[in-house]
Amino acid sequence: MPKDAIPTIGPAHVAIIMDGNGRWAQKRGRPRLFGHHAGARRVREIVEACPDMGVKYLTIFAFSTENWKRTQVEVAGLMSLFRKYIEREAKALVRNGVRVRFIGDRIRLDEKLVAMMDELELLTSHNDLIHLTIALNYGGRDEVTRAAKRLALEIEQGRLTHDEVDAETLSRFLDTHVLPDPDLVIRTSGEARISNFLLWQSAYAEYEFVDTLWPDFSRTEFARVLASYGKRDRRFGAVSA
Ligand code: IPE
Ligand code: IPE
Ligand code: MG
Repeated sequence: MPKDAIPTIGPAHVAIIMDGNGRWAQKRGRPRLFGHHAGARRVREIVEACPDMGVKYLTIFAFSTENWKRTQVEVAGLMSLFRKYIEREAKALVRNGVRVRFIGDRIRLDEKLVAMMDELELLTSHNDLIHLTIALNYGGRDEVTRAAKRLALEIEQGRLTHDEVDAETLSRFLDTHVLPDPDLVIRTSGEARISNFLLWQSAYAEYEFVDTLWPDFSRTEFARVLASYGKRDRRFGAVSA
């Protein structure tokens, strides 16, 4: 077992808001995309650390429904980076037992990228060591809205009655329907907000906000954050024993 492995029971599902790529690049006098490339390289290290640290599910925020507001150059650069990431990482992901899923609305993404996402999901569909979910064109409100729309259609077409709608039923229509709720949400770069990430699913998640910019977020720091999670008392509204 590596020396930074967590001996106690850690969070099974960690979600990360990978923030700070732009500032990381600016500090070096480089364009924002330089930071996004550095950030993408970090992902592998963190994914590969998961099995040693007891993390079975890792969900990462790559592009939000609000990120379209950025310049055309940055958006196009990010879309091209996502294609390159899939191309470059596919083999290692298959080999390392990573099951990849994408959440978010695919409708606004270009066809070629969507085809690559589908292919990677299929290629890794037999893996079970780590479940990596990539949130791409994802927004919590958008996800709940899309779920509500589909739910309304089910009712309209008589497959469901309004009486049957409860939290569990609504969850089945979310992009994350096969995933457990996140235990821990980490945001890098010092911002203490959730920016529309996993709003429904994080109802009882623990949060950790760290100052490190995402391209500098190392396996060692990941281990430290997981260790501090181990000291928390999660009560879910009850009183601790
Ligand atoms: C996070 O880094 C990556 C994306 C949102 C795509 P940012 O690009 O938001 O970096 P900062 O926050 O401007 O430093
Ligand atoms: C959140 O970061 C989205 C991702 C990390 C993909 P942003 O940088 O877009 O969030 P705000 O604008 O600071 O809230
Ligand atoms: Mg940011």
